[in-house]
Amino acid sequence: MGNVRRRFAWLLRPQLFVGFIVACLCIGALGNVYRSVHASPIVPTPKTDVKGAHTNLPSVDCQKVPCIALTFDDGPDPQVTPRVLDTLAAEHIKATFFVVGRNVAGKEDILRRMHREGHEIGNHSWDHADFTKLSPAQVDAELASTQSAISAAGVPAPRLFRPPYGAVNDMVKNHANMTIVRWDIDPEDWLSRDPVKINESLLAHARPGGIILMHDIYPSTADALTPAIDQLKTHYQFVTASQLMSLSAGDQGQFFGRR
Ligand code: NI
Repeated sequence: MGNVRRRFAWLLRPQLFVGFIVACLCIGALGNVYRSVHASPIVPTPKTDVKGAHTNLPSVDCQKVPCIALTFDDGPDPQVTPRVLDTLAAEHIKATFFVVGRNVAGKEDILRRMHREGHEIGNHSWDHADFTKLSPAQVDAELASTQSAISAAGVPAPRLFRPPYGAVNDMVKNHANMTIVRWDIDPEDWLSRDPVKINESLLAHARPGGIILMHDIYPSTADALTPAIDQLKTHYQFVTASQLMSLSAGDQGQFFGRR
């Protein structure tokens, strides 16, 4: 024991001990740099197809399993959207966000987070205009500018479009050249702003194959989400709009839910 104590006595000298610790930290840091350069990331980046849908989401057969899709419109919002994303992450649920192009500036991080966490992102126009009151050229511009804003944030351009107010006519359908996703369950979170009422309406109207319309711009919607999910998750598998409708790139038409 005496020999061992003498052999490591230098560790008790403060200067040498500090030097030893610094050397250990340097070796550790160099190891991290080496690993970051040479090793592949531990968490794989989600694969996406050319139109931006996640292709590595588990396949769910919504003809056999009771599925339901949560969709959130009008964001991203700097306060509410992160709260909604936190809740979805805690519950391991994937949803669909229909974003307004003019809201993207300054919130690119939130958009990238949506995508990184496996949610689907759709186009909800540039400034929430009623498309049936626009010219064909204006419709094209609304859609294209929103696609560009989303792409510029580093997220694949959407293939889904949700018309503001659900307002669609033949001109809009012909010019959208995207898959139009509507909804069939509206808990009216835009009207009541009361989490209890929103939740009651949601539970009363939920059905297998349904698409739920909500808005990630109202704090009351974020408040309603956790209790709503707690009750719905015992009956339903939550899926994205594309999963629910088994949508593929280039699919045309309007989808209100799975019947
Ligand atoms: Ni909207």
